[in-house]
Amino acid sequence: MRRRLACNAAQLIALLSFSASMLMAEDEISLPTTPVVPSLTVQTCTACHGPAGNSLSSAIPSIAGLPREYLRGVMGDYRHGGRFSTVMGRLVQAYNDEQMDLLADYFSRQSFKLHKQRVDWDQASKGRQLHRLYCRQCHGDLSRAPEPGSPVLNGRWMDYLRWTLQDYLLGVSQADEEMSGALTRLVRRHGEQGLEALVHYYGSARPKSKSSE
Ligand code: HEC
Ligand code: HEC
Repeated sequence: MRRRLACNAAQLIALLSFSASMLMAEDEISLPTTPVVPSLTVQTCTACHGPAGNSLSSAIPSIAGLPREYLRGVMGDYRHGGRFSTVMGRLVQAYNDEQMDLLADYFSRQSFKLHKQRVDWDQASKGRQLHRLYCRQCHGDLSRAPEPGSPVLNGRWMDYLRWTLQDYLLGVSQADEEMSGALTRLVRRHGEQGLEALVHYYGSARPKSKSSE
């Protein structure tokens, strides 16, 4: 009897310390992999960028599912002026590096939602060829993964892409040297219609069930 009791007490202690170590282990594991982004911070972003970063307006980019290092880089560029912006340059001043890391991490984990857009199919097919020649090596497409740090362009909002490309051409946004070179060559040979064709091609991405590629 005594022996049984002692045994039970020992088991109980073992069980308790086991659960305590589980709890601690859980704490230790959950910290780095699931960073807590204060919901208020995310809500500031989703007010414009849409639920979980999927924008409902063609003028505002979706940020869901873009590469983490790209999101982090572009927020830094808005702060330091490498990227032209109407809104973001001022807005990012309110966040420190750590908060920007967490935001980039959070939005990169959300899934991107494809919206159907109105496209001119002749332009889209011309754009597809131009994309293969000038842009695919870095940005990838439906059958090729992008280079790390380059955002996918297929399926992005057309108005946003149009304006963003203009900002690079005008030089108010600075692309890296290789991309600048690709854009300049494209416009020299195909004019601004070449850019418009690309925008239609990117806008032509359809949800998987009706894959047109
Ligand atoms: C008032 C509306 C508004 C709010 C709030 C807002 N954004 Fe933006 N965001 C924009 C617009 C508009 C752009 C396009 C650049 C510009 O003109 O400022 C943009 C661009 C971006 C981009 C670049 C996307 C790309 O494809 O390169 C990122 C990243 C981004 N915002 C992150 C955030 C984060 C993170 C927050 C929350 C802290 C946030 N934004 C809050 C309107 C907003
Ligand atoms: C050498 C690689 C490379 C090539 C070639 C290239 N790009 Fe890029 N592009 C990038 C990188 C890297 C970024 C991110 C730059 C930044 O952080 O501002 C980018 C950014 C962009 C963006 C901004 C996306 C956003 O979400 O705001 C657009 C639009 C774009 N590129 C279009 C093009 C087009 C169109 C072509 C072909 C004419 C092209 N790029 C060719 C590497 C490339």
